[in-house]
Amino acid sequence: MNIAVFASGRGTNFAAIIRAVKKGKIKAELRLLVCDNPAAKAISKAKRAGVRIALVKRQDYPGKKEFEAAILRYLEEEKIDLIVLAGFMRMLSPELVAEFRNKIINIHPALLPSFKGSSAIKDAFDYGVKVTGVTVHFVDENMDSGPIILQQAVGIKESDTLESLEKKIHKVEHKLYPQAIRLYVEGKLKIEGRKVVVSRH
Ligand code: GAR
Repeated sequence: MNIAVFASGRGTNFAAIIRAVKKGKIKAELRLLVCDNPAAKAISKAKRAGVRIALVKRQDYPGKKEFEAAILRYLEEEKIDLIVLAGFMRMLSPELVAEFRNKIINIHPALLPSFKGSSAIKDAFDYGVKVTGVTVHFVDENMDSGPIILQQAVGIKESDTLESLEKKIHKVEHKLYPQAIRLYVEGKLKIEGRKVVVSRH
């Protein structure tokens, strides 16, 4: 199975996936990094790991359609079976989602459906919830809304700061995402309506 990771920023989840593939915990080929930001740290991580980089800047294309057509060409060239969104800060079009129906997964730093959007850790912290967490889910046409694969709770203590909470969330992400990808690659995820049934053997 061939995997493409989409990332726009630091790429720490991407790095965790690289490690899991190297260790043989995920038995798949990491073929491509799709990145829309030339300053993203994810790029140097891909270089170091020998993963092909597709740098696609939105402003280089007249519209979203052309931008995604360029991405699709890379996906086809590398015969990608699974798209893993890891901090890719753009919504995919319904057409691209339809093309890869149930073959796109995302990680979100909150317990969905709470705190959707791009500042979920801060939003949960500012709201004052006592428990937040991490969600890995299939991607559908709406933002942060597809069937949930795995979730893990993270408690917020009174002594926590936004920075300490971010650290706790990222630590959980780096374990949970490789775990979810492994389940997908091993064919252990079955979508039944809104729900994902995980087979554990
Ligand atoms: C991660 O915390 C991920 O959950 C979040 O972006 C971060 C990327 O970090 N994604 C979202 O907020 C999506 N709505 P990374 O580049 O270090 O992996």
